[in-house]
Amino acid sequence: MFDPVTLPEPIVQAPMAGGASTPALAVAVCEAGGLGFLAAGYKSADAVREEIGAVRSATNQALGVNLFVPTSAPAEPGSLSGYLRELEADAARLGVELGEARYEDDAWQDKLELLSEQRVAVVSFTFGYPSVEVIARLHEAGTAVWITITTVSEALVAQAAGADALVVQGSEAGGHRGGFSDDDDAGGTAVLGLLRLVRRAVALPLIAAGAIADGPALAAVLCAGATAGQVGTALMLAPEAGTNAAQRALLPQPVPTRLTRAFTGHLARGMVNRFLLDHTATAPSAYPEIHYATSALRAEARRRGDTDAFNLWAGEAHELAEPQAAAEIIRTMGTEARQALAEVSARLSPEND
Ligand SMILES: Cc1cc2nc3c(=O)[nH]c(=O)nc-3n(C[C@H](O)[C@H](O)[C@H](O)COP(=O)(O)O)c2cc1C
Repeated sequence: MFDPVTLPEPIVQAPMAGGASTPALAVAVCEAGGLGFLAAGYKSADAVREEIGAVRSATNQALGVNLFVPTSAPAEPGSLSGYLRELEADAARLGVELGEARYEDDAWQDKLELLSEQRVAVVSFTFGYPSVEVIARLHEAGTAVWITITTVSEALVAQAAGADALVVQGSEAGGHRGGFSDDDDAGGTAVLGLLRLVRRAVALPLIAAGAIADGPALAAVLCAGATAGQVGTALMLAPEAGTNAAQRALLPQPVPTRLTRAFTGHLARGMVNRFLLDHTATAPSAYPEIHYATSALRAEARRRGDTDAFNLWAGEAHELAEPQAAAEIIRTMGTEARQALAEVSARLSPEND
């Protein structure tokens, strides 16, 4: 079973559904010594099969695939109608219709079936955890199961469920909050404090996520008990990433980020824009219904390069992202982490007293 301690570079690529993740990005990260990941969220099982095939035809290295665990029940229709009315003006402005605010499980069973055949090194789960049976099937296939957590209590549940490692997502992280709930506390704790709390509670390998955008930040989470850092936003300017061109131009700018349910009905961290400011206060917790309602609107805004009208998912350190090849980003981060650790160690050594 894959153990993250064996990675040549202690770096895991964050899965980034919605466009930024591509097979080319995963291949580049794998070949540079990190763990490349595919994002299966919002894709059909056939599309995921094709992406796994594309990665396998380019590298023999270990690969991870990330799945969204479906929300357990549809949102109350009454909780949606006012918000959907509010969004109509945004849709009209872009000349599109709102999509149907539907509840669906994102082809969960088909993707589980696929992944129990594909024998990838790691399957990670976000928004919850799978059943004991699903974990057993993945283990039979030789696949390690990682579960994303944002609190100590989630870490304990994930450990009891049979996880092989935990992705510890701090509040700084870009994109959706990946824990088990979408309540008002789901914003969570910053990554260093969370790592220390989780480290005390569970013995599993920990993968730290949240604003790790350079070597010194990677060194910090390794010191705080992580086996590897998971890096998302810092890879978004790599040519291999599928990041939208208009968002690429904004990422290095000093734009603040905020948590919002405005785009998808689930808390997520994105760069502040007009849509976020207009709708964060009123957006209900209703994922995936709001995701589907806004998807045509967001696709049209993306097509037009209108960064005020689509989700600009990014972590708190997005200004540190560099437009370099993914392999270069991974190798530089690893080298600079080792340098930072050596410098701090030399500074703290007793000979300097
Ligand atoms: C554009 C984007 C898309 C993301 N999509 C996913 C996803 O599909 N699955 C998932 O588990 N996490 C997703 N995340 C969260 C990452 O896994 C990770 O927690 C985050 O990128 C870490 O913070 P950072 O972006 O500051 O590095 C996404 C993050 C971003 C920025």
